[in-house]
Amino acid sequence: MLIKNKSPHELSENDVTDESIYHDRRSILKKLGFLGASALLPSQANAQFLDFFDKEEAQASFKTSPLTYSAAPADQQILTPETKVITHNNFYEFGSKKDQPAKLAQQFNVNPWTLKISGEVEQEITLDYDKLFSQFALQERIYRLRCVEAWSMVIPWIGFELSKIIALAKPTSQAKYVAFETLFDPEQMPGQANRRLGGGIKYPYVEGLRIDEAENPLSFLAVGLYGKTLPPQNGAPIRLVVPWKYGFKSIKSIVGIRLLKNKPPTTWNKLAPNEYGFYANVNPEVDHPRWSQASERRITTGGLFARNRIDTLPFNGYGEQVAHLYKGMNLRKHY
Ligand code: MTE
Repeated sequence: MLIKNKSPHELSENDVTDESIYHDRRSILKKLGFLGASALLPSQANAQFLDFFDKEEAQASFKTSPLTYSAAPADQQILTPETKVITHNNFYEFGSKKDQPAKLAQQFNVNPWTLKISGEVEQEITLDYDKLFSQFALQERIYRLRCVEAWSMVIPWIGFELSKIIALAKPTSQAKYVAFETLFDPEQMPGQANRRLGGGIKYPYVEGLRIDEAENPLSFLAVGLYGKTLPPQNGAPIRLVVPWKYGFKSIKSIVGIRLLKNKPPTTWNKLAPNEYGFYANVNPEVDHPRWSQASERRITTGGLFARNRIDTLPFNGYGEQVAHLYKGMNLRKHY
């Protein structure tokens, strides 16, 4: 398969990561390894400090090198520091300002959790909290995340391919789309209880993909980042990551995945259909009605390699893996 063969556009972590950050992170992982099974129990979302090394599956997958898919130059690949990744967030269920989710989501309790896969499937599947981390072998993926607001990050995720969970459920021939739903729990999510705090969104937050997009090997379900379980503000315990699409497609804290005959409604498209499409593929040639999408502000450490304003790449640089999905489609119309 194309993406498993290392070709020039696939850089290893050493190629793409600012060296000091790389070594820093390796030592963090090592420390986590020493924590081993004595780590905290995964009873709360603040088990973000729980390491993955008490899970045999994760341990096995961490021994394999992380996978990085890239067409972008190496200086556009520097990892975004963890502190930025976990404090600059969009998670409107916990407030629409960037710093609110990190503050307001700390008590978010994600265990127990139930993720259900249903709809046009032969085999309905229900995964509880522990199964999210043990049902599938975990791997690390370093992906760029490009927000529709024109900022971007490079994040080392931990998780598994979305296609794995779909295959387990055995979609019927009727399954053409995949719909995703975030938890609805206004007692825990203040933005769902307070319309102003929640940015006027009608909850639960919902998203969707065409089934061939969902089955593309790049589509990823993340349960961790930077070697730890996901912090609540980043979508604990499980969130979607679709790196060639604007960030709003990467729905957080998922409780439902449904395979459907028809295209499902999606949150931002319902809110402002002329601004946010169903496809939402990163496209520097199609501007948002209120701002340009030709470039983006890359959130990095600064310093020698810093290039904060960079050109945006078609499909966020993943065209080789995904452009074929849209052959013959007018991407101005299907934005
Ligand atoms: N998922 C839910 N449920 N609610 C949200 O508000 N925001 C989206 C996406 N997933 C959002 C969501 C947007 S706009 C972006 S850019 C990414 O999450 C941000 O992910 P991050 O905070 O981990 O960087």
